[in-house]
Amino acid sequence: MLINRAFFRDYWQKKPLVLRNAVNLPETHPGKEALFSLAGDENIESRLVLEHGERPWEVHFGPFTSAELEALPNSGWTILFQDMDKHLPEVGSLLEQFRGMPRWRIDDIMISYAVDKGSVGPHTDEYDVFLIQASGKRLWRIDTDPEADRSLVANLDMKILQHFEAEQELLLEPGDMLYLPPGIAHHGVALDTGMTWSIGMRAPSAADLFQAFGEWLAEERGEGPRYTDPPLTARNESALLDAPAITRFCNLAAGELAFDGPFAEFLGHFLSRYRLAHEPAPPEEALDESTLRTALRDGAVLRQNPWTRMLWIRINTQAAVFAAGKRYACSEETAAALCDPQRLAHVSEGLRDRAIVCDLLNDGHLYLEREP
Ligand code: SIN
Ligand code: CO
Repeated sequence: MLINRAFFRDYWQKKPLVLRNAVNLPETHPGKEALFSLAGDENIESRLVLEHGERPWEVHFGPFTSAELEALPNSGWTILFQDMDKHLPEVGSLLEQFRGMPRWRIDDIMISYAVDKGSVGPHTDEYDVFLIQASGKRLWRIDTDPEADRSLVANLDMKILQHFEAEQELLLEPGDMLYLPPGIAHHGVALDTGMTWSIGMRAPSAADLFQAFGEWLAEERGEGPRYTDPPLTARNESALLDAPAITRFCNLAAGELAFDGPFAEFLGHFLSRYRLAHEPAPPEEALDESTLRTALRDGAVLRQNPWTRMLWIRINTQAAVFAAGKRYACSEETAAALCDPQRLAHVSEGLRDRAIVCDLLNDGHLYLEREP
């Protein structure tokens, strides 16, 4: 397994790791033609980076016509495609090799298609990333120095480091993988035409969390409890916000942040929606429990809609699935099975909580794949 105990102990969020010939790439995966046609699709987020355009580090946003792409020079550009794990199931299947990771931490798989000398420049990212070489060769230069000057070149479309001195050089060939924690400066340059698939993680900031938590409290909980005074006495310093008052505010906030308070519920809601690019659409026809039972008995398989995010939480003895922000109360056993794509595929008609499965199907988070 790629992501094991030693990886978390020694590398995760600590230091870079290169693994040679570590990733099994899916047998069929998109080549140049398929990617060029995806670049023309307005539902796909794509960006073209030209190192030497009319300005340095020029960025253009898709969709692109094939004439535009065919007119590009032979070197010095890259096209980046976001959310390819959702658009192309064969790309998404790569995530099975990362089973040891909390799935809700994974943002997307981005494919970068680069020609000779193609690059997005020296930069740092705020998130952990697994960079997997899918075809061609790419030379990565990295710098882990926490003291290094990380100022950016001014007035560019992109965040490019003004100073970058590589401390290590790593040549990645197909199947090789480089893991980088957040904040490590890196610069990957294609040595020929090729593809890098990057699995990006997500990590909300405290500001993201508190902003969203405040909105959620106001909407879902009638704003929550309000401040009340500690025992008061007549005061000389009437403008002073004193320590007992501050403590009461801290306690008010802490009560809302307690493990078994509303915050866990909010997190389920928030993280299952975080950076979700599309809302799952309900199916045309609603399904009832008996149709579900028959379909499962006849060999149909439950799958997750690639555009939903599902996770579950356990608080005391209660379990709940969250799918794209919506809560579905169920047993732990059901929650664990529904949120794990591998176990989901083995769910049979004997499953408890069939009504919840129907709700998830009818809300578009799950679908049934029937035998052809
Ligand atoms: C790339 O694959 O071209 C860029 C990915 C990265 O540097 O994070
Ligand atoms: Co990067």
